[in-house]
Amino acid sequence: MEIKLRTVPSFINQTMNLDRGSFNPLWVHDPKTSILGLGYSFYLEYIEFFCKFISKHSKKLINNRFLLEKECLFMDQEMRHAKAHCALNSFLAENQVIHTDFHPRVYSFMYGVHKIYYEPMMIGAKKGNIGQIKKALFEVAVFESKNCISSFVFFESLFDNNNINNTIKLSQNLSILYLLGYHFIEEIEHCDVALDIYTEITNENVWTEKSIENYVYQTPHATLESYNAAFYCANFLNRSINLKDLERCPFSILTKNAQVEFITDNFHPNQASIKDKREYYIQKWDVYWEPLLKEEICKRHNLVNI
Ligand SMILES: [Fe+2]
Ligand SMILES: [Fe+2]
Repeated sequence: MEIKLRTVPSFINQTMNLDRGSFNPLWVHDPKTSILGLGYSFYLEYIEFFCKFISKHSKKLINNRFLLEKECLFMDQEMRHAKAHCALNSFLAENQVIHTDFHPRVYSFMYGVHKIYYEPMMIGAKKGNIGQIKKALFEVAVFESKNCISSFVFFESLFDNNNINNTIKLSQNLSILYLLGYHFIEEIEHCDVALDIYTEITNENVWTEKSIENYVYQTPHATLESYNAAFYCANFLNRSINLKDLERCPFSILTKNAQVEFITDNFHPNQASIKDKREYYIQKWDVYWEPLLKEEICKRHNLVNI
């Protein structure tokens, strides 16, 4: 599958209305999913830099030239994602960014998990510790697999079967919807590379009975990190939200069900049924959904679509 570097329209940061007086967080009709999506924006930005750091210290272990080329494009996409989320996250968490030796943008509410969970892997990877590199690449491959499936849910429930018209009508912040759509389509596009890198370096499959139990059936730390960021956002925006709201919002329930359905033993995003779905959503986004969304944003903000 070709990995493309898409451009986010330059007006998106402006049309998100990143101003305390006019910001509207309801990018989707369900308010709980809207807040969860904002929380997810922080988790995503964090993990992009983590991936890049691990890539820098592990890519020399990749012998397959074609995989290495894909890895470079995968990282290019990820760094563009981090950049695309920066304005929104900086607005929501002004003065909350901590620069560390290993990660350039750790938000204060993620600092605990960074120090305890992620930083030891980064320190180990920098020293060339193969155990820590393996652990980190596994983390990335799990994230990419699960994100691929949650992205299916995102596009299936909000865009496909003409749902896009209703989603657009009910969204009060189309630019956040656009940002997430752009990001998730590229996640769908490159997710297989993370699994191939893990297998290339370790000779092991990511998805086994044990990893499925720990990362699909149980609630993994990544989910809690998104929840934690969502609580921060709710507080910043004076909205009330609790754990049950996040666990029971439509997106969480649909995502969990889809992950249980699709991620089975030896799951790989290139298996025929998954690859077909990936290709389908990417084509729909590039040809139909993305231009339509861009046009609608321009209409709402009286901009000329370029
Ligand atoms: Fe990403
Ligand atoms: Fe990714």
